[in-house]
Parts: sequence; structure tokens; C-alpha cells
Amino acid sequence: MLELLPPPPTDPLWDLTYEFGADDRPERMNLVLGVYRDQSGTTPVMAAVREAEMRLAQRSESKEYRGLSGNTAFNRSLTDLVLGTGGPAGRAAAVQTVAGSGALRLLADLIFRTRPGATVWVSDPAYVNHRPILEAAGLKVRPYGWRDAGGGFDAAGVLRELRDARRDDVVLLQGCCHNPTGVDPLPEEWEALAESAVRGGWVPFVDLAYHGLGDGLEADLLATRMLAERVPEMLIAVSCSKNFGLYSDRVGCAIVLGASGRTVRHAETSLQNAARTLYSMPPEHGAAVVTTILEDEGLRAAWRAELDVMRGRIMANRADLAAHLSALGRAEQARSLARQKGMFSMLPLTPHQMLRLRRQHAVYGTTSGRINIAGIPAHRIPCLAQGIAAVLDAADAPRVILPA
Ligand SMILES: Cc1ncc(COP(=O)(O)O)c(C=O)c1O
Repeated sequence: MLELLPPPPTDPLWDLTYEFGADDRPERMNLVLGVYRDQSGTTPVMAAVREAEMRLAQRSESKEYRGLSGNTAFNRSLTDLVLGTGGPAGRAAAVQTVAGSGALRLLADLIFRTRPGATVWVSDPAYVNHRPILEAAGLKVRPYGWRDAGGGFDAAGVLRELRDARRDDVVLLQGCCHNPTGVDPLPEEWEALAESAVRGGWVPFVDLAYHGLGDGLEADLLATRMLAERVPEMLIAVSCSKNFGLYSDRVGCAIVLGASGRTVRHAETSLQNAARTLYSMPPEHGAAVVTTILEDEGLRAAWRAELDVMRGRIMANRADLAAHLSALGRAEQARSLARQKGMFSMLPLTPHQMLRLRRQHAVYGTTSGRINIAGIPAHRIPCLAQGIAAVLDAADAPRVILPA
């Protein structure tokens, strides 16, 4: 049987990560994957997570199966964290998922079960796994632009394109810290998007993976909360991978907001059914950790403080890289970089230039130009800026045509 399998494509991000692993240049820098690294280059276990794990180990509760929605206390705590208590949280149902990716997939399945013909609008560029997850669920995907020529959010263009969205089409939006561009709408542009959803009848599908790492936890959740107040129906995929540092524990949540209690209950059962056929139930450990943190005032404050430190390091790295690029005569690129938010930035480099950056300067970013700002060791920022500037200078240099 297996000999009939054609050679499948491999994952480009992991391919680059393996290539990095085989690179023995001491100056090499891995800015490919979206993980937070501290100054020593490690992805730490947060102290609040450690403490919660100790408490859980002492309690040594049973490991019996959880219900079909996973850990319901986790679902409640995370819904309140995302939407705030009261308000739209009252018309929400939530199901624990296998991290943010699992939430995206379960919600994609829900869309397909409800409206198999619906189109899901996805930003261009988008998180690398958005389109594959949606298509794997059988959905049609349509791209819409995200940035204007100056590298900022293209509000007019996006709103113009979304005028073609039909009632019950779904528009995938990242609630903050857009991956891969780092370019987010301003508050008034989010308002205009909400107005477009209400007028056009399209359903916002918000992917939240980086809240707390842009402008601060509450600020990063403002757009999601505002949308939830305005629209009758909304889907939210929440990841705890980055802001709790629980990458490998696979912790997340799918939240559905509906106009009535009945529709929300149906949606929850549909999500449970989808999970049942995919993996049955999500893993408990990480969800119990997050619940322990969110339900304890002291631990919650400690987690928030650690999250702020992580955010501070990302912001400092970004500002420093921009300052060095500016000092190297790249003021325009520096300004655009400084405006971006969250873990990622898109360098203004072509795939060929990204390859040159990798070959000549040992800097690994994605072929599309994305780099992980949270992965840069602070003392290496001058080298990184020099590498970027050298690649840009080489592209600007007039080609010398030697006489025959
Ligand atoms: C925008 C976005 N959404 C969702 C995810 C999924 O994250 P996870 O499945 O690790 O929680 C990621 C991960 O990088 C992401 O960048």
C-alpha cells in the first residue's frame, strides 16, 4: 500500500529549522519558528507555570477521562480572560482544544458542518497554516490583501475587498500581532471592520495567538472584545502556546458566540462531535496549569508580570534593530519595522535575499522574509542589522558589466 504514496511536500519552516540544526557556524541565528527566547537563547518555563505544576503535583488528582469539552473550568477562565466577565461571555460556549491549531481546525469543521459552501477570507500574507487547516476541513479559501504599498495596514483596500463577502461568509482575522507581518489595524480601523461585518453579515473568525505580546494583555484583547460586542455571531480560536509558554503541552480553546442560547449549545455539541472523531479529548495537563494560574490572584499577577517582561524584551529588540538599521542608512525600513507589533516582522527582502542572508550572514528567517523578533539575542542585534543592510546594499549596487 505505502509504495503508492507519492513523495509528499515537507514543511518549509521545519525544513529550515533542521537546516539550522546542521549549520555549525558559531554566529548562526535561528529566527524561523515563532517561539519566545530569553537573552540566553532558551525558551523558559514561566515561573507561574512551574508553581502551578508544583501545586497540581501535590494535589495529585485523578487522571480519569474529562468530559467531551475537556476541562470546563479552563474553558470558563479562558473565555472570561478573552472576553472579560459579563457582556458577550454570557452568550459564548467554549471547548478545550489541542492548542490554537486544534481550535482553528475544530472551528473550521463547525463552519463546514453549518455552511459547506461558505468562503473563508484569509489575509494575504497569512499565518502559514491558516489555508491548509481550512482546506483540510473542506472549506473554500479566498485571500484578501493586508498591507498597503508603504507596509502599513491597508484599511481602505481591505474594506473594499470585504464588500464582496456574502452573508455568512467567514473572515479570518488575527486579533493582534499579525503573523507574519506584525501589522495590525488601528482601533478606528477595527471599528470600521466591525461595521463592515454588521452591514455585510459576514462572520468574524478571530485567531488569538499572541495576546499579551503586543501592547499588553488588555490592549491586545480590545479588538476581539469590541467585535464580540457588535456582531451576533463570532468564532474565536485561542492559543496558550506563546503567552503561557506551553508550546508542547498543546493548550487552547475554541469559543463560539451566538445570538441565542440554543444556537450556542448546538455549536458546542458540534465542536465536541468534531473533536470526538479527530482525537476524542484534549490533553489535561496544560489546561489544568492555566486554570490554576487564572483562578489564583497571586499566580495570575505573577504570570501577568512575566508576560510583561517578555513583551518588554520583544519591544526593546524591535526598537534596537530599527535604530541600528537607521544608523546604517536604512531609515525607511527602520520606520516600518518600528511600527510593527508582536513576535514577528517582515523584512523587506526577496526570497533570494533571504537566502543570501542565510548563506552569507548565518541568519535564518523564512523565505517570505519573516523573522522572529523574540528570538534575537540582544547583543547580536548590530550584526543582524549589518547583515540586513549588506543584503539590501548588494541589491542596490549597480551591476558592473565587464567589457568582453
Ligand atoms: C497566528 C497563529 N495562530 C495559531 C497558531 C497555532 O499555535 P499553537 O497550535 O501552537 O497553539 C500560531 C502558531 O504559530 C499562529 O502564529
